Amino acid sequence: MDRIIINGGINLNGRVKVSAAKNSVLPIIAASLLCPDECFLEDVPFLDDVEVICSVLDSIGASINVIKGLNKISIKADNINSTEPPYDLVRKMRASFLVMGPLLSRFGRVKISLPGGCNIGTRPIDLHLKGLSALGAEVSLGHGYVEAICNKLKGCKIYLDFPSVGATENIIMAAVLADGETTIQNAAEEPEVVDLSNFLNSMGANIVGAGTDTIKILGVKDLKGTTHQVIPDRIEAGTYMAAAAITQGDVFVENVILEHVRPVIAKLQEAGVTVIEGQNKVRVISRGLPRAVDIKTMPYPGFPTDMQAQFMALMSIARGTSIITETVFENRFMHITELKRMGADIKVDGRSAVVEGRNRLTGAKVKATDLRAGASLVLAGLVAEGITEVFDIHHLDRGYVDIVGKLRGLGAKIDRVGE
Ligand code: EPZ
Repeated sequence: MDRIIINGGINLNGRVKVSAAKNSVLPIIAASLLCPDECFLEDVPFLDDVEVICSVLDSIGASINVIKGLNKISIKADNINSTEPPYDLVRKMRASFLVMGPLLSRFGRVKISLPGGCNIGTRPIDLHLKGLSALGAEVSLGHGYVEAICNKLKGCKIYLDFPSVGATENIIMAAVLADGETTIQNAAEEPEVVDLSNFLNSMGANIVGAGTDTIKILGVKDLKGTTHQVIPDRIEAGTYMAAAAITQGDVFVENVILEHVRPVIAKLQEAGVTVIEGQNKVRVISRGLPRAVDIKTMPYPGFPTDMQAQFMALMSIARGTSIITETVFENRFMHITELKRMGADIKVDGRSAVVEGRNRLTGAKVKATDLRAGASLVLAGLVAEGITEVFDIHHLDRGYVDIVGKLRGLGAKIDRVGE
């Protein structure tokens, strides 16, 4: 198993280009199942999670053509021969569950393994199933599988008890070919939901309101192939912005949609970090330890839960006490024990963590427990005194394109070594 070795203490400097968004390309690849024509995706980040969802589509008969050098893929779902993606693939990644809406919508049936929980929470799917049932599907659970059947889905009004990103996406993909209009109330407003809706509308769907809490989908007869450029990854952007802040560096983070990183910009500025906004880029300059700020994760446009671990690393060296509250997932503090091995002073109190800023962290051997926890440990390693070794970095490969290369490009003393 590979690990990352960091010799901390370097102020990062230079330019880093953000790749396209993992959490946008995954539902968009699933949505390509909705028509038999070829769909072309540009700026695709070649991540482990992208490979998994492509193998799920491949396993049921879709043809995937990868042009790695150009970060492009094409998907042609004209020969789907099963609506039961294999267990061993679906279990690898929760987002595989996003093929449920498209398969039910186009073929009237789907049977799929219940997605596993993961380190950050139980990750239930009740809201997904509530939406599909409301659209008229007959949903049954058993033997670790969920099955949904319905010849023709019928538009309806669905209220989401929580603005779940995945449930919003699955319901949109189920509703695009349904009879009549579907309204999703208390829908997720994340930019990735908007990107998916733009992709579907370019295929001929009729979706309005994406990006607000009320989305209306008027079912159409069929959809056509399209070409789509995936939006930049706002969490990757936030991670490099935090890397500049934690190392007291001066970094241009490029390929950023400013609107999508507003909460991160606001919190960095509150912490005394200079953030200069440019055309599709931000410059982050930090001269000295950050001020402690409180963080409360919320659904978009609130502070993203996917940036909570990274900010906890930053607050570990801040001046003062920071209270970080995680309201989205019930167990997203797995990085705390590892940060404490590096000298961080953090106490968990229910869904909040009280972080007493220390003016230094020390390098240590630490383990990534999930994707963003891994990013948090890398950030801590960049500022810690001495050597930090981050193990289990396969978690990082799920969501960051070449994080070692990009940080080395900013001057970090960082290497990836195999066992
Ligand atoms: C998406 O996960 C992202 N993943 C996550 O990113 C992100 O953290 C999350 O949205 C929140 O922004 C992808 O887009 C592939 P949710 P998703 O459904 O859709 C509860 C990363 O690091 N819930 O919005 O699974 C759930 O338990 C990953 O890139 C229900 O109760 O998130 C959680 O507490 C991690 N019932 C909350 O909603 C349901 O049916 C948010 O989950 C569904 C969700």
